[in-house]
Amino acid sequence: MTNTAPRRSLRTSLPMVGATGTGSHKTCTYKCGDDCFRDVPNTSSNETFEEVVARAVSRRGFLKAGMASVVVLGAGGTFGSLRDASAQPLPPVLEPPSDPLRAAGAKTLGFTPIEPTTADAVVVPDGYDSRVLIRWGDPLFPNTPQFRFDRQTAAKQAEQFGYNCDYVAFMPLPWSSRFTNSSRGLLWVNHEYTNPELMFTGYDPDNPSRAQVDIELAAHGAAIVEIRRPRGERWFSYRRRSSYNRRLTAQSPMLLTGPAAGDPLLQTGDDPTGTQVLGTLNNCAGGVTPWGTVLTAEENFNQYFGKLEDVSDARVSAWHARYGLAEGESGRKWERYYPRFDLGVEPHEPFRHGWIVEVDPYDPEYVPRKRTALGRFKHEGATTSLAADSRVTCYLGDDERFDYVYKFVTAGRFVEGDTAGNADLLDEGTLYVARFDVDPVGNRVGTWIPMIHGEGALTADNGFASQAEVLVNTRGAADLLGATKMDRPEDIERNPVNGGVYINLTNNSSRGGVDDGGTADPNDDRFFPQEDAANPRAPNRYGHVIELFEEGNDAAATRFTWGIFLLCGTPDDPTTYFAGFDKSQVSPISSPDNIAFDQQGNLLLATDGQPGSIGVNDAFHFVPISGPERGHVQQFLSVPVGAEACGPEFTPDDQTLFCAVQHPGDDGSLEQPVSTWPDGAEPRPSVVSVFKTAPGDPRIGA
Ligand code: FEO
Ligand code: CA
Ligand code: CA
Repeated sequence: MTNTAPRRSLRTSLPMVGATGTGSHKTCTYKCGDDCFRDVPNTSSNETFEEVVARAVSRRGFLKAGMASVVVLGAGGTFGSLRDASAQPLPPVLEPPSDPLRAAGAKTLGFTPIEPTTADAVVVPDGYDSRVLIRWGDPLFPNTPQFRFDRQTAAKQAEQFGYNCDYVAFMPLPWSSRFTNSSRGLLWVNHEYTNPELMFTGYDPDNPSRAQVDIELAAHGAAIVEIRRPRGERWFSYRRRSSYNRRLTAQSPMLLTGPAAGDPLLQTGDDPTGTQVLGTLNNCAGGVTPWGTVLTAEENFNQYFGKLEDVSDARVSAWHARYGLAEGESGRKWERYYPRFDLGVEPHEPFRHGWIVEVDPYDPEYVPRKRTALGRFKHEGATTSLAADSRVTCYLGDDERFDYVYKFVTAGRFVEGDTAGNADLLDEGTLYVARFDVDPVGNRVGTWIPMIHGEGALTADNGFASQAEVLVNTRGAADLLGATKMDRPEDIERNPVNGGVYINLTNNSSRGGVDDGGTADPNDDRFFPQEDAANPRAPNRYGHVIELFEEGNDAAATRFTWGIFLLCGTPDDPTTYFAGFDKSQVSPISSPDNIAFDQQGNLLLATDGQPGSIGVNDAFHFVPISGPERGHVQQFLSVPVGAEACGPEFTPDDQTLFCAVQHPGDDGSLEQPVSTWPDGAEPRPSVVSVFKTAPGDPRIGA
């Protein structure tokens, strides 16, 4: 499993492939319902200063005119510095803000980076190995039937490990041992979506059978499974007999809680109370709370619903369009068998998805709660941090072209050991959306804008009758507040060592261009925002990483400073930037998605889209964030053909790194497979544990 790929120079110029700068087309079909091939749903006139002036002066003429640096006073009283992007060298190299804790950061990493590869294997550096921990279909309970590819049923699937593993959390058993126990715990795994063409022989996308749809519903959701690393061994195994093992699916009963729960918009024929919902859909990334629960993020939920044209309420229809719901049958056609996915039958059902869901993995009876206070959008993830006064903050990204970065701050405070007091902290607090500015003297500054009904533009006159409506149509509310349109915000996580907040922007094929991907209206060719300081490339094919420091390094602050940490791509591309590090030494990287930190504060970036953008398999890359190695991107792992690299998650001792191998074999078929990982047969999404075999410091990366 180690280093099966031919060696190639890190400095090799890699081909630029793919029309969208994202994944393959099939990846897009099942992951997000082909979002990048549809119209951008953000049609708001929430413009940057650059756009406002560009529009006034005449669009392209202005940008060619070489207007140097015009300072304007923007809505809300914040200053922005307007610069002509075409007159600046690309990229605008932005020095990060100074930070007194920066010196506490990482040491030099101790592995030789692997070469980018297209091998159908999990590839790790010399001195490391990996082992499959659990695969799609592996039985979770004593009486669960063994997986047999051509004998699958929904009942079996509901007791087996689900499909397309994404977010991974290691939850030590018990929670009180979380700082010291790296040998026994619960593994939480999101099952984001299904690839039916790789699950069913002869799958016909125009005519999925009821049995196939039922299996897919059961393969979505999440898994909780007890795992152990026996003394003397380096890898984990899962326990089939553990009483903690559990599956959540697209049919599991859940509660809606917080300010929007019970609102008329959340009521349906099946649930007139607006407080109970079946299932969780498209669970992408997530996070862990200080009290030991898991947050799982509902992302591309729009693709599961069909027939927008049958929604009679114009406001409901417009809100759905802002979230990318579409006319006609859905791609998966679940609505043929389940009317709740038919918008003509249940126009409110989508309002019950797109939330952050909290689950206590230590309580097998816990009914998952969709926490509406954290807003509704295509939630990438939800990572927590503690403010100086012990309020809890959650960083949240909305993974859509030209959508936003958010933060939630609880009203109450976390108290260690106060189980009852902590349990519903996420039901009350303030949701903020981010605005990234450049002040008149060139400092990168930013504001967390509160999203509170009755404040600013969020009034009944502007279409928001209550806080519940602000939370149900969070995107529409953020449009009114002057938030900065970003290049697909993915994982956002605060570094436990330096307090910096790292924001992955995965790519944006439409920035600076014309919306020619949409199918709804061929005459609707809209020009999209040009590059701005926070999204400095148009189009943005390879993604970038922003580093943000909260004012006073307090997670609950409402102002921040920020800088560009990485502009991804191949090092020979002059538009790339690696925090100033020598480009000749870095690994190529594209489409940053998930984030983890080791105990030293080193950043680990997982990618989703390298095959379609730089022509190599997706990967894990280590990046020190401080010291002389700051910005030194070093590839640590490569996933098999067609797969996306997810997780990543360390054990507390940094001796195990979990990697979720999502959709291996994507863009192939069962008849013409492009991957046979992990067993030389049909590809199976799986979680692997990675560990060191070389003598010396046993920590990953050390
Ligand atoms: Fe499911 Fe935004 O990645
Ligand atoms: Ca993701
Ligand atoms: Ca992804």
